[in-house]
Amino acid sequence: MRKLIIAIDGPAAAGKSSAAKNLAKRLGYLYLDSGALYRAIAWKLLQEGINPESQAEVEAAAQSIEIELRLKGEQTEIWVQQVEATPSLRQPEVTRTSSIISTYPGVRKKLLSIQRSIGSGGGVVMEGRDIGTVVFPEADVKFYLDATTPVRGLRRHKEMELKGIPSDLEKTTREIEERDLKDRQRHVAPLKKSEDAIVIDSTPLNLEEVILCMLQEVEKKLAAKQGGTGHIKKLK
Ligand code: CDP
Repeated sequence: MRKLIIAIDGPAAAGKSSAAKNLAKRLGYLYLDSGALYRAIAWKLLQEGINPESQAEVEAAAQSIEIELRLKGEQTEIWVQQVEATPSLRQPEVTRTSSIISTYPGVRKKLLSIQRSIGSGGGVVMEGRDIGTVVFPEADVKFYLDATTPVRGLRRHKEMELKGIPSDLEKTTREIEERDLKDRQRHVAPLKKSEDAIVIDSTPLNLEEVILCMLQEVEKKLAAKQGGTGHIKKLK
């Protein structure tokens, strides 16, 4: 049976990456963080001193940026023009820039084809803002993962501190709110819940609870596809 395409969308710091990574591991699927692709473009533009506000320049430069995903054990490294960019992708400047350049149709078009070529064969858990709505509208299972703003702000703040990146709780919370607003208001592929997405509010849940919830939905889908019982035991 064909392996599934699983889409996870939602606002910043809702826990999408951790959930997607874990879900993929348990299913033996590939995990793709689509945000890392936007960040990779942003990183390269910053390196080249291109003004992210200049749409024409950004769109032209983006076309020739070569992005490569290299699997290292359970980790996916992002290489840009033969240089590993992964360690720099979570820097605040890269985050801010990714939010600006993701509003440009030329950037999204380039990344759309990369995402589709990675996921179209199935066996993938892909997370982002427009996976269930634009990248894979025919995805087998779609989740919309959300949490309240203060909880997301606190999660991101702790995550930054753990990574050794200085963070101020209020500023971090404000920045994710600003980014969400931009993502929701843009004309191309805005962040929104796909009509057929399963909403999970992770506010009161820990990671394991989110994953179990997702696994149950995946099992239901697999069982429906097989026309029989699922195989929960095998997955756990
Ligand atoms: O990890 P976090 O949720 O903070 O962000 P991310 O998923 O790494 O995405 C960084 C930025 O890329 C977002 O703020 C979006 O503007 C953009 N993005 C997008 O437009 N579409 C996607 N599918 C993924 C990310």
